[in-house]
Parts: sequence; structure tokens; C-alpha cells
Amino acid sequence: MRHILAVAVAVTLMATVVSAQERSRTQSAAVPSTDDALDGEKLFGTLCGFCHQGGGRVAGRGPKLAGTDRPDEYLLNRIRVGKEGAMPAYGRAFSETQLRALIAYIRSLKDDQ
Ligand code: HEC
Repeated sequence: MRHILAVAVAVTLMATVVSAQERSRTQSAAVPSTDDALDGEKLFGTLCGFCHQGGGRVAGRGPKLAGTDRPDEYLLNRIRVGKEGAMPAYGRAFSETQLRALIAYIRSLKDDQ
């Protein structure tokens, strides 16, 4: 009985190691994109989509961003300083390039919903 238990534990451990390796392999295989809109989409999906739903295409916890008529500077400022009690400030989290990529992404959204 003890022996069977030890084998079961060993098999479980091996399966965990293999799946961790599998995961890191698929991550490092990701080709870094040079397309601003695509990078912006990735950043947006990870950090902003929780509130700006549908990738910013529909209103959720935050407003819909697709088709906004606000100027770039307004949008940049909102992302940098956020809004008390509504949206976190990301000024320290993003480089200027990343901020521009986010704006490019927001501008690339089609306002069709
Ligand atoms: C916790 C929820 C939340 C998160 C996370 C969030 N936002 Fe917001 N966002 C809001 C809310 C709420 C507003 C409306 C604030 C206001 O009244 O101006 C807003 C406003 C904005 C605006 C201005 C839109 C407009 O027309 O007034 C932009 C641009 C924006 N967010 C981009 C982003 C980006 C980019 C991210 C990710 C880096 C992000 N937000 C993450 C909640 C969020």
C-alpha cells in the first residue's frame, strides 16, 4: 500500500513538472509584435479589459472607448493619472511607447456596437 502511494505521488509530481515546462515553452514561443495596435491590444486585454469590457468596445465598469471623440491628450492624461475612485493611475506602469500603443489600440477600435 505504501509503495502504491509513493508511486502515485511520484507520478503526480512528474505531471506537474511536465505541464510547467509545457507552459513556459508556449510562452517563450510567442513572437514579439512590432505592431503598436497589437501590443496595445495585449496590454489592454490584461490590465484594462476588467473595466473597459469587450476590449473597450462596450460600456462596463468603465466607459466604452471605441469611437471616443476625446483628443489623444485627454485619453493619455486619463490613463496616466486615472480618476479618483473610478480608474487607477497607470503613469508609472507604462513607458511613453506603451501609452502610445494603448492610444493606437483605442483608436483602432471600430465603433459598431
Ligand atoms: C477599475 C476599473 C478601470 C480600469 C482597470 C481601467 N479603467 Fe479606464 N476608466 C474607468 C472609468 C470608471 C472611467 C471613467 C472616468 C471618468 O469619469 O472620466 C475610465 C476612463 C478611461 C478613459 C477616458 C475615456 C473617456 O472618454 O472619458 C480612458 C482612455 C481609459 N479609461 C483607458 C483605460 C486604459 C488604457 C486602462 C488600462 C491601462 C484602463 N482604462 C483601466 C475604469 C477603469
